[in-house]
Amino acid sequence: MLTQQQLKQQSADAALAFIEPLLGPDVVIGVGTGSTADLFIDGLARLRGRLRGAVASSERSAARLAGHGLDVLDLNDVQAMPVYIDGADEIDARLHMIKGGGGALTREKIVASVADRYICIADESKLVERLGAFPLPIEVIPMAREAVARAVVALGGQPRLRDGFVTDNGNIILDVAGLHIDDAPGLEARLNNLPGVVTCGLFAQSGAHVALLATQQGIRELHRP
Ligand code: 5RP
Repeated sequence: MLTQQQLKQQSADAALAFIEPLLGPDVVIGVGTGSTADLFIDGLARLRGRLRGAVASSERSAARLAGHGLDVLDLNDVQAMPVYIDGADEIDARLHMIKGGGGALTREKIVASVADRYICIADESKLVERLGAFPLPIEVIPMAREAVARAVVALGGQPRLRDGFVTDNGNIILDVAGLHIDDAPGLEARLNNLPGVVTCGLFAQSGAHVALLATQQGIRELHRP
């Protein structure tokens, strides 16, 4: 029986195998944040010299990449990336996701938006029939905290301030439990439209393209329907 850590490693290794044929001296890839992304970054160190560098979705991942001697580029200096590799807190069969457990959701969404394909790496426990058991993170500009919280309550959610946490962008996170997510792209648009919301952790308007989910029987590869 593989542990969750071993499953995460399996998924990170599958992503390294997936990207290897795409690499070249001018190629820049996008790299996410979290414990699974950390394992991917550690493996990417072995491919140093086979790519130009990476754009990171957080200060944490940037430091880890740099610690391995990998070049970290500013997204403003990068026009295209073949892939963005990152984990998820929940993913469904349509490859819609909830992200932001690590609080890096806004930069994750930005970096992913520039890449041709989002490759989601996770263990199979992240695969759900319906999104929403994991409280939905929303990054909010501090002065809008109560206004956004009231709007979220009106939508049926129970917001909770992530205590003592400040995002890389200087904002707060509201973790919202109890939402019924029948229409993930619609809810994403609605939440993102609230004044003071930087972005919500639904990645559904543009979800993952491929999911490499580690199971006890090996990698299960899902593609966007
Ligand atoms: C960070 C994220 C992560 O992708 C998500 O929390 C999954 O993390 P892990 O790989 O540690 O389970 O969205 O903001």
